[in-house]
Amino acid sequence: MSNGDKRIGILTGGGDCPGLNAVIRGAVKSADRLGYDMVGFLNGFEGLVDPVAYSPLNRKNTSGILHQGGTILGSANKGRFTATVGISKRVEIPPELLAGARKTVQQLGLHGLICVGGDGSLAIAQQLHEYGLPVVGVPKTIDNDLSCTAFTFGFDSAVACATDALDRLHTTAASHGRTMVLEVMGRHAGWIALHAGIAGGGDVILIPEIPWTFENVCQKILERESRGKNFTLVVVAEGAESPGGKLHTREEDKDDRQTRLGGIGNMVSEEIEKRLLRETRVVVLGHLQRGGPPTTFDRVLATQFGAHAVRLVVQQQFGKMVCYHPPSIHDVPITDAVRELSSVDPEGAAVQAARALGISFGDSLPDEDPFRLIADREIQTSTADTPEEEDQVLVPESV
Ligand code: F6P
Repeated sequence: MSNGDKRIGILTGGGDCPGLNAVIRGAVKSADRLGYDMVGFLNGFEGLVDPVAYSPLNRKNTSGILHQGGTILGSANKGRFTATVGISKRVEIPPELLAGARKTVQQLGLHGLICVGGDGSLAIAQQLHEYGLPVVGVPKTIDNDLSCTAFTFGFDSAVACATDALDRLHTTAASHGRTMVLEVMGRHAGWIALHAGIAGGGDVILIPEIPWTFENVCQKILERESRGKNFTLVVVAEGAESPGGKLHTREEDKDDRQTRLGGIGNMVSEEIEKRLLRETRVVVLGHLQRGGPPTTFDRVLATQFGAHAVRLVVQQQFGKMVCYHPPSIHDVPITDAVRELSSVDPEGAAVQAARALGISFGDSLPDEDPFRLIADREIQTSTADTPEEEDQVLVPESV
């Protein structure tokens, strides 16, 4: 049944990720309750312009999609609409495409257009907004590299996949006494590598935000061996540059898309094998991280984002992107979210916790680990101040 002439459009742009269908369902259901119909544009922004391609969305045809990976609307990370290529290189969308999008929005009588996407798609959404279209953004990406939101949906599902891979690599690495290198996605941010490395018991985590050396990585492997650990798990982010500053890519920048990253895992594995003469294997996890059902966390986050995006359209708060500031859902200007990518803070809590456990980031030798140096300093200070008897109380009285 139609709600009448109140209508909202939605599209999913860029690389897919788990949770896109949960956003679509969340938006459609909440829009319906507020008296709005919805239409979904096919294949990202492409469906907005000639040949215009869209499909009506309703409670019936979005029922049962909450747990499904991918997007029922299709997506595209290349094509006629491009607003960025490479890091922060703004590309102007051609005027005829902007005019075509406006014509479609007017012809369909859309009260708002919800654009679900990562930095590239949200940069396109921002240009459509600047052109006067009633746009609202929803942050999506497994890379978690958008500013102004604690998490993007899709990230938790990708981390779960990479953690599962590490769990599996752990047992086979231990059985064969091997070093296993896992290359994960994330573009120029190390979020997936960091979180999966911690959750999956990685021993070395190499990320773009922390420069590292092979000597430090190899020393960590040797230090583990000296403690009887004959295997090591190394997690490397695809965007981590090798020492000397080389970014490993699969192809050069093309006009309509960003550089494809990949290859650092092989390089790390080969160099460890060469330096230590130890058997090493590499796994490039690739698109498994983008497929499959969303985690519980991503379903909840995506559903909240979908509902909040509709609320923004109804309130005519255009040019905004929904965001997550735990525990609340908020919104910020899209332009704030895409101005600068969010990267791992090398001094942040997760990195500090990892260091506390002895995980190496390849930036120091095992006995020069910054965490150990702090701890050693504290021990020296406290032994100087503490009476000897207090040091004796190591065992609870009841034992
Ligand atoms: O941005 C998401 C992402 O999966 C990145 O982590 C990865 O570098 C890229 O997309 C892969 O893109 P494609 O699907 O075009 O190979």
